[in-house]
Amino acid sequence: MIKLINSLVITTIIASSCYYDNKEELYPRQANCDTVNVSFAKDIKPLIDAQCTGCHNTQSPTAGVALSTHAEILVYAKSGQLYGVLSWIAPYTGSKQMPPSGPKWSNCNLSKLKSWIDKGAPNN
Ligand code: HEC
Repeated sequence: MIKLINSLVITTIIASSCYYDNKEELYPRQANCDTVNVSFAKDIKPLIDAQCTGCHNTQSPTAGVALSTHAEILVYAKSGQLYGVLSWIAPYTGSKQMPPSGPKWSNCNLSKLKSWIDKGAPNN
């Protein structure tokens, strides 16, 4: 009986470790996605500079939205609009999906953004 229980336990451990191996192979980026130590300068600003400030800059802010500096970005981080337009959730659908010609931010980048906003969107 003890042998049977032992082999059941061992089988379960082996089966569950296989499950996690597969999961990491299937979702490698998510497994390496650090949403704890998110830096505005390293993780958030480069994406906004590359994809958003062409339209949303201090000099000519499309739709009145400027995203050139931390202070400007902070306004939209706090209002919920930044996360809304990037995650394409209602009411930020259709013409409010950013960037307008896509692609949508990856789950990892959206998770990082949310974590940074939840911490008060620091200039770190
Ligand atoms: C090609 C120009 C263009 C680019 C690039 C662009 N936007 Fe926009 N953005 C717009 C336009 C136009 C609107 C107004 C859309 C509307 O009200 O229907 C807008 C609206 C917004 C708004 C206000 C939404 C609201 O609540 O009304 C935010 C926030 C925003 N954009 C963020 C971003 C972010 C973040 C990026 C980069 C990922 C980005 N935008 C890239 C053109 C652009």
